[in-house]
Amino acid sequence: MDVPPLVAQAQQRAADNGFAYSCAPLTGELLAALAAAVPPGGRILELGTGMGVGLAWVLHGLRGREDVVLVTVEHDPKTAALAADADWPAWVRPHTGDAVALLPELGSFDLVFADAEGGKWSGLDRTLAALREGGVLLLDDMDPARYTLAEHHAAIAAVRATLRADAGLVLVDLPVGTGHIIATRRHAAAAA
Ligand SMILES: C[S@@+](CC[C@H](N)C(=O)[O-])C[C@H]1O[C@@H](n2cnc3c(N)ncnc32)[C@H](O)[C@@H]1O
Repeated sequence: MDVPPLVAQAQQRAADNGFAYSCAPLTGELLAALAAAVPPGGRILELGTGMGVGLAWVLHGLRGREDVVLVTVEHDPKTAALAADADWPAWVRPHTGDAVALLPELGSFDLVFADAEGGKWSGLDRTLAALREGGVLLLDDMDPARYTLAEHHAAIAAVRATLRADAGLVLVDLPVGTGHIIATRRHAAAAA
């Protein structure tokens, strides 16, 4: 597919600033498809803004919908400032700070894109607590082959184990691209 203009701008911003951690196009398309399914008045959270590539894919999925709140968190002030320089719609709410520390005050969400170590490798419980019934959590960079250090392997194995142990979640491992997990929070009415 053609890269949406806002995504291309964010990719250029990343290239200009030597930022190598933007989400891959496949992840972005997945994110856009999930964002398009967020219900009216819904809320989306991104952990780890980076240069705004993921954010741009979410906006592509939403296609001008102003009824959806989009919160994004970045802990590095320089990165956050560069991303904030973009022409985001007024209803995008950027936060600068540590995702784990901020999570309890951000509210609850229909879609969470966990794309930072904070809120995924640490503080996953807080991310899960912010996931609404029917809400979808997308985790990126879950392919063990991406990591060389044993501690990183252990970190992603722990994330998988935590998610699998949660009976309130329905999980799918998508071993494509950078490796993704989608976890959907069951509705309370679901059988125990
Ligand atoms: C993989 S990049 C994010 C890419 C972006 N989501 C995208 O789709 O292009 C991870 C980002 O998370 C940020 N980060 C790392 N730990 C964080 C934390 N605890 N809280 C908030 N941001 C964090 C990093 O500074 C980095 O910019």
